[in-house]
Amino acid sequence: MVDFKHYTVMRHEAVDALECKDGLVYVDATLGGGGHSELILQKIQPSGQLISFDLDDDAIEAASERLKNYKNLTIVKDSYTNITNVLQELRVNKITGGVLLDLGASYHQLTKAERGFSFAKNAPLDMRFNKDSDFSAFNVVNFYSEADLIRIFSEYGEERFSKRIAKKIVEQRRIKTIDTTGELADLIINATPRIKSSIHPATRVFQAIRIEVNQELTNVKDILEKVLALLADGAIISVISFHSLEDRLVKNFFKYHSQKCRCEKNQMICKCGPPELEIITKKPILASEEEIKTNPPSRSAKLRVSRKLCS
Ligand SMILES: C[S@@+](CC[C@H](N)C(=O)[O-])C[C@H]1O[C@@H](n2cnc3c(N)ncnc32)[C@H](O)[C@@H]1O
Repeated sequence: MVDFKHYTVMRHEAVDALECKDGLVYVDATLGGGGHSELILQKIQPSGQLISFDLDDDAIEAASERLKNYKNLTIVKDSYTNITNVLQELRVNKITGGVLLDLGASYHQLTKAERGFSFAKNAPLDMRFNKDSDFSAFNVVNFYSEADLIRIFSEYGEERFSKRIAKKIVEQRRIKTIDTTGELADLIINATPRIKSSIHPATRVFQAIRIEVNQELTNVKDILEKVLALLADGAIISVISFHSLEDRLVKNFFKYHSQKCRCEKNQMICKCGPPELEIITKKPILASEEEIKTNPPSRSAKLRVSRKLCS
């Protein structure tokens, strides 16, 4: 059995927000170790239905074992971006209860050396959520143009030394491919000035590469649009994000779809119909002091919740 460790973030806050009821259909788009799914299942007995997605074999194996006694759970090994087709195949027309998204990577993915996400543990450059994918951090680091490396380090990592780091990568790979997390971390340390900071100099670049490898931001945009079309009136969407780029996407999506008018500014007559979402969390919910003490990474989590309005 896989040795899987993950601390579920804002377990109660994110699930309570869904106002779970027996008899309704729920989706956990990011199953992970199954912490949120388990709590949803406890609240929707005996006849609610939960469909949970992940594309990581380790997560699927660990959560399948943890949740094996629940009859009303369907675990799907697929990207949540395929939600529309998957629900169609399961003959589910609408998500009547709600959807949970706990974005980003699990503790297991980030800390298992062989997954190649961590600059602190030397391993082949990998960072794939889906081990069946043939595109990894190795491809990004060794084959992206200098301009593309600068772009992703700046956009996804908000890294101020993007240019220097990209230049060094391109110089280095003319001599030999960059194969490991350790080689990349050392290269970043050598390419950047020594600055007193609480974070490792490779943190932002590693985050950027991970986002690129797994198309995390594109996927979040995609799932939000698809979920909006699938939610039944009154159903709820509860989203936990871990960095400002994701949180901004969620916040702007909720804001846009809760506006009375979403027409182009130059349009004279409103054609867009009533707002589609009601924002439940005017400000994001943060992890409690107690949770942050036991699981420090929860310090960056933000939970935003909205309800689908009657169309
Ligand atoms: C933060 S973890 C979820 C943890 C889970 N809520 C728990 O309590 O154990 C995020 C999970 O989302 C999965 N994931 C990321 N992108 C995905 C995608 N496009 N489709 C399905 N799952 C995805 C990751 O593999 C990871 O297991």
